Amino acid sequence: MRAAVVTGASSGIGRATAALLVERGWQVFGSVRTEAQAEALSAELGPDLVPLRFDLRDGPAIARAAEQVAAALGADRLAGLVNNAGLAHFGPLAQQPIEDWQAQIDVNLTGTLRVVQAFLPLLGSDRARSGAPGRIVTISSVSGRITLPFTSGYSASKHGLEALSDAMRRELAIYGIRTIVIQPGAVRTPIWDKIDRPEDQRFQDGDFGGLFARFKTAFAAAGEAALPPERFAALVHHVLTVRNPRPRYALMRGWLTHWTLPRLLPDRTLDRILAGQLGIS
Ligand SMILES: NC(=O)c1ccc[n+]([C@@H]2O[C@H](COP(=O)([O-])OP(=O)(O)OC[C@H]3O[C@@H](n4cnc5c(N)ncnc54)[C@H](OP(=O)(O)O)[C@@H]3O)[C@@H](O)[C@H]2O)c1
Repeated sequence: MRAAVVTGASSGIGRATAALLVERGWQVFGSVRTEAQAEALSAELGPDLVPLRFDLRDGPAIARAAEQVAAALGADRLAGLVNNAGLAHFGPLAQQPIEDWQAQIDVNLTGTLRVVQAFLPLLGSDRARSGAPGRIVTISSVSGRITLPFTSGYSASKHGLEALSDAMRRELAIYGIRTIVIQPGAVRTPIWDKIDRPEDQRFQDGDFGGLFARFKTAFAAAGEAALPPERFAALVHHVLTVRNPRPRYALMRGWLTHWTLPRLLPDRTLDRILAGQLGIS
């Protein structure tokens, strides 16, 4: 039975991925942060889902989880690690508390490296284990390539994740471990409900109050056209099982306007388009 670790399995893309992998006969170790989430996930997915309890900021807890998975695998290798857990705090960079920036870098970027280091022996660096080397699938974002105003910390963390993934692909090749990045556009998950936080009222009265409000309205409209998380679960399953996965997969609605053109246009032209959309003069 092939086994995979999926971080952030309590919700959204992580939950859909854990569910699909279990359905396809995988043993899934899904990370959650609370006992209630662990119980809910086990009740929904049954014994092939083993909850792991850790926060991506907590190195010792991640190490304990890796020991738990090692004990369950015996001498076998882990076939997949899906780095999915993440969070987003948007706001004007001139006013956003440094703690918001740090949380996004610590969880989305540094937390991913913590998890990779902990599970690396199970994926292939421990040569005493048997089985094909595992694959690392990392959920980045369109924000890993294109930065919208008011997404500085999130986008920096995802740009960093793209760099970390390039480094993993090039370094971990010595173990035969393949590294794949998925770059989603808008996905219909609870992350959208978490973006509008009561404490963000603090931005209302500053120079960017009106612009940030307009950004949130435009962003919420983009969320209306979001793809379901099951599309990403299917893509994760594909890249874990296809013979020769590509290094990167972008998946979104509005491919031309949200992905191809913004990456082709000169910076100044894209600046003008975004300024026009948000009313920045
Ligand atoms: N939804 C989109 O439109 C979209 C677009 C591009 C990229 N993405 C990326 O897709 C990934 C999954 O997001 P989603 O949309 O499925 O969001 P979601 O429904 O909010 O799920 C996020 C998951 O990450 C977990 N998580 C958050 N902070 C954590 C921490 N400190 N330690 C451990 N786990 C933590 C959450 O756990 P709790 O339930 O305990 O908070 C939850 O399980 C993220 O990396 C996100 O950046 C999403």
